[in-house]
Amino acid sequence: MGSEIDMESQTCSSDQEPTAIFKNVNRPVFLKFEDVVYTVEIKKARCLKTKSKKSEERNILKGVTGAVLPGEMLAILGPSGSGKTTLLTSLGGRLSGQLSGSITYNDKPFSNQMKRNMGRSFEATKCKNIIISGPMKRGVSGGERKRVSIGQEILINPSPLFLDKPTSGLDSTTAQRIVSTLWELARGGRTVAMAIHQPSSRLFYMFHKVLLLPDGNPLFFGKGASVMDYFSSIAYSPFVHMTLADYLLDLANGKNVADAYACVPSNEVDKEQKAVKDALATSYKSNLAHIEGRD
Ligand SMILES: Nc1ncnc2c1ncn2[C@@H]1O[C@H](COP(=O)(O)OP(=O)(O)O)[C@@H](O)[C@H]1O
Ligand SMILES: [Mg+2]
Repeated sequence: MGSEIDMESQTCSSDQEPTAIFKNVNRPVFLKFEDVVYTVEIKKARCLKTKSKKSEERNILKGVTGAVLPGEMLAILGPSGSGKTTLLTSLGGRLSGQLSGSITYNDKPFSNQMKRNMGRSFEATKCKNIIISGPMKRGVSGGERKRVSIGQEILINPSPLFLDKPTSGLDSTTAQRIVSTLWELARGGRTVAMAIHQPSSRLFYMFHKVLLLPDGNPLFFGKGASVMDYFSSIAYSPFVHMTLADYLLDLANGKNVADAYACVPSNEVDKEQKAVKDALATSYKSNLAHIEGRD
């Protein structure tokens, strides 16, 4: 019969001894990344006239800075294609190509020892060599496979732990359980970073740090609790009731909620959104030193 790693049953209540996986981490890790830039070369089709093959460079990450302490959980938010997976991959030391800036673990560069202690759960991760279905049992669903994949990673007591959208495709109750489990793991001194798509408000408040990353260009990095104050301070506050994640994703898409009813002709929308994103990126750069929780 199949065997399954059930993350939910591993969650401990306050009056119980912590389950083995929640015990304190062996090696706490202070993860720091500074001005990370990742560039790829895009080959263009052969030009028929000149017969020359052109290529151009594209910056996927445009100077991303932040730090995650042992015991903290970082949420990387941004629209699809904004560089979340690329950043997580680079933090995990698995990105080859033109990567500049500095990524350190306890103030040292990436090492093989660190690679052994690291946990990763990415979308493409399949659970190899684990029987999660038998001849009489249908295979597991995507959500179940995701949970097995995360469970498989945490069995080695990893830190740091990188997760790419651990809750996508899950119902909100299961998503809450997964993030609570990851929060418990962080509480044991682990360093946790994840890309997450539109977390509900109750999930959002579990994150110690938030990085908002449209087009590889950070708009905010700091304490989750101070994100709203920061955007209000630069005159971007929501005036309709909406969840924090929705509000941040609107900003990351260049949509200023306060202008929702402003008359912008449809052919001007792209220009307007780019202007909002540029203004936010510029504000972020000039406010870098003042955002709480950057170290
Ligand atoms: N090796 C690569 N070559 C060309 N483009 C890439 C490469 N890696 C990522 N990209 C592009 O960079 C952008 C960001 O990708 P990704 O990090 O997967 O975004 P996200 O995880 O936020 O959806 C996408 O437009 C993607 O197509
Ligand atoms: Mg991705």
